[in-house]
Amino acid sequence: MYIGKRIAVTGCAGFIGSNLTHRFLEEGREVVGIDNFFTGSRKNLPSARAATHFRFIEADITVEGDWQKAVAECDTTFHMAAYPEAGAGEKDTQIHLKQNVIGTRNVLEASSRSGRNFVFASSSTVYGEASKMPTAEDYGPLKPIGIMGASKLGCEGYVAAYCHVFDAEGAIMRFANVVGRREAHGVTFDFVRKLKRNPRELEILGRDPGTVKSYVHIDDLMDGMMAGCERSEERVEIYNVGTAQTTSVREIADIVVSELGLKNVAYRWTGGVDGGRGWKEDVKHMELAVDKLRNRGWTAKLSSSEAVRKAAGEISAEI
Ligand SMILES: NC(=O)c1ccc[n+]([C@@H]2O[C@H](COP(=O)([O-])OP(=O)(O)OC[C@H]3O[C@@H](n4cnc5c(N)ncnc54)[C@H](O)[C@@H]3O)[C@@H](O)[C@H]2O)c1
Repeated sequence: MYIGKRIAVTGCAGFIGSNLTHRFLEEGREVVGIDNFFTGSRKNLPSARAATHFRFIEADITVEGDWQKAVAECDTTFHMAAYPEAGAGEKDTQIHLKQNVIGTRNVLEASSRSGRNFVFASSSTVYGEASKMPTAEDYGPLKPIGIMGASKLGCEGYVAAYCHVFDAEGAIMRFANVVGRREAHGVTFDFVRKLKRNPRELEILGRDPGTVKSYVHIDDLMDGMMAGCERSEERVEIYNVGTAQTTSVREIADIVVSELGLKNVAYRWTGGVDGGRGWKEDVKHMELAVDKLRNRGWTAKLSSSEAVRKAAGEISAEI
């Protein structure tokens, strides 16, 4: 897929979008960034010095508007804006439909409808509780167990269809759990924040040893995305982007405690729901097969647990 010189990044003030924005600017590309600060932060936007190649548009992608003209002029859109909380669907069944499905359709309308290329931040949650581990991209049928996963699966369908109908190219990236600098949600962030407030006790959602999932560091994730885009062979490619290992929630707690230099921290497990999930929509075991990207020349440099350790240090330095 041709990525080009001019890139649109939706969700540019969020964790993954801001890291991508900084990377593209460092590579000398021009970036049009879109965000409405729903979960993102102004702090994450590039400094004024870098801003000569950066145009920021404060806009809500769930509402069509002038921002779409700016996106239509970019070679490729990296669509990262979404409501990323996997546990929110039980209380609010609308939010992912609006933020993710309607939002994605509006971005596709600006980008792919103009024949521009599209990179989509999907998620391992589309697999639901897969019966095959590690789970490859061609696993099916896909039966998400949460509303966010359902919305991502719907978005994937829209990406594929828009690329076909309007002769664009697409890359659907199914991320494992991503960790690293500027992270502001997720279990590693949650543990660092709680332990900074109370270094003696840590509340952990679920039942010991908790869910077992694959974690990937943001730098590896971005390298994997670029490898997948540059070496795509089909009009629409789907890639798992993760590590070949897993880390349990207990291991994450141990890693964060050690990285913060703490000792004798009491773990207080909440018990969770449904035999150990942290919450109803929480997948118990996620392990992605990463052979497809490996065959395109990319492997994560850090293992799942090394990624968590590095991220714990980065997050701790930020909060
Ligand atoms: N972080 C992970 O572990 C992970 C895993 C799988 C998939 N993903 C996906 O990657 C993408 C980025 O996730 P993240 O972790 O950086 O989340 P994030 O919350 O840090 O970033 C999302 C950004 O999108 C913006 N946004 C949300 N709704 C918007 C709207 N209507 N209009 C404009 N901007 C809007 C937010 O303000 C925020 O800056 C999301 O699509 C998420 O579902 C993330």
